[in-house]
Amino acid sequence: MRLILLGPPGAGKGTQCKRIIDKYGMAHLSSGDILRDERAAGTELGAKAQGYMDSGELVPDDLIIAMMAGAMAKAAGNYVLDGFPRTVVQGEGLDSALAGAGEKIDAVVNLVVADEVIAARLTGRRSCPKCGAVYHVENLKPKTDGKCDKGCGDLVQRDDDKPEVISNRLKTYHTQTAAVVGYYESKGNPIITVDADRDIDVVTAAVLAELDDVSA
Ligand code: AP5
Repeated sequence: MRLILLGPPGAGKGTQCKRIIDKYGMAHLSSGDILRDERAAGTELGAKAQGYMDSGELVPDDLIIAMMAGAMAKAAGNYVLDGFPRTVVQGEGLDSALAGAGEKIDAVVNLVVADEVIAARLTGRRSCPKCGAVYHVENLKPKTDGKCDKGCGDLVQRDDDKPEVISNRLKTYHTQTAAVVGYYESKGNPIITVDADRDIDVVTAAVLAELDDVSA
């Protein structure tokens, strides 16, 4: 299956992707995670992305399209895209790469959450820098405060989860990314719209129920 998960920052894309890959055995291709890995490894791409990420702006389309094409090539047609595409230009780049290989996206899942809910989610998020597990100080607590349940060590708060950066990320989402949903609608791709302002397990159940039909 080839899936795209769309939604604003903090909608729960990463959280739900981890549950989708557990169920269907797919690769989780998160553009944000790949960029953070590039930064941690001190690569040229990571250095180019840094300023954009820290201010809540989008990294330029050409860099992202090349990066994600490389990740998709390794995933052998069984993946969920998280955080990509984030502009219509990226969607067009993805579609032309897929069409060239005779492939297509099987479903687009759109997680819908109001802006008012998002700030509390992002300021309370804690992540494991080693395994990528995502927690929340109230909604999804680790077993021991500040420690990853998988024994990796200390959890961290992302630099871009500061209030001033969150507001810019939301602005960026509304001005540049929200249009991607309309792009896929206009192309006739099946869109699965899910109210993500509910308990995490309830959202997971709703997403998986729809994906069971897609994978059948
Ligand atoms: P990226 O890492 O992709 O960030 P994002 O899209 O802003 O999404 P988040 O990771 O913040 O949120 P999420 O939806 O995954 O939520 P999560 O599951 O963690 O991108 C970072 C930056 O990289 C961008 O700003 C940009 O600069 C750059 N970038 C990345 N991709 C790019 C691209 N394609 N083009 C250009 N630039 C790109 O959940 C959040 C918190 O809420 C967690 O604590 C979780 O426990 C909690 N939570 C989740 N679901 C629920 C729920 N239902 N109820 C209560 N709490 C919940």
